[in-house]
Amino acid sequence: MTIDPATFRQVLGHFPTSVTVVAATAADGTPIGFTIGSFTSVSLDPPLVGFLPQVNSDRWAAINATGSFVVNELGAHQSELCWRFAKSSVLDPFDGVAWRPSPITGSPIIEGAIAWIDCAIEGVIDAGDHHFVLGRVLELEHVDPETEPDPNPLLFYRGQLGRFQPHV
Ligand SMILES: Cc1cc2nc3c(=O)[nH]c(=O)nc-3n(C[C@H](O)[C@H](O)[C@H](O)COP(=O)(O)O)c2cc1C
Repeated sequence: MTIDPATFRQVLGHFPTSVTVVAATAADGTPIGFTIGSFTSVSLDPPLVGFLPQVNSDRWAAINATGSFVVNELGAHQSELCWRFAKSSVLDPFDGVAWRPSPITGSPIIEGAIAWIDCAIEGVIDAGDHHFVLGRVLELEHVDPETEPDPNPLLFYRGQLGRFQPHV
């Protein structure tokens, strides 16, 4: 049975995701990053996370060459960064974006991200037209929800961005 690609996209769009920017610092100090919705927790012991880049992604090739990455979880106030880091036509998406190097791998932690996870690339598994990238967690942190003005995550659902609305 063949699956219609449009139907596949439409149905999968009904599964909401977080919005992250997976980023690394190249050997010459240039920050590289792209928007990733397929980020997932994988294992607690050992601590592993994962995400799925397209096999033909230039940004993934550049990140892979560094051997490490940081996952930035975007906050609800960072919609503009989601689109900016998703366009390969934007040659330097970090232009004008404040960031600091992560403690272990020196990858870019974007100011305003509500959580970050610093990782070494543990493995890259073929998964159709994507790779499944496993990251070994080296260090991680989240913002303090008591002191952060807007500690809510940015969410992606059916092609649109939005924010989390808890049941009361
Ligand atoms: C909300 C959202 C989630 C995305 N998630 C992924 C993803 O999980 N994997 C992926 O390969 N691309 C994903 N993309 C698309 C990439 O960000 C985009 O293809 C990439 O930045 C293009 O640059 P490149 O082709 O030079 O790598 C996503 C885009 C958006 C807007």
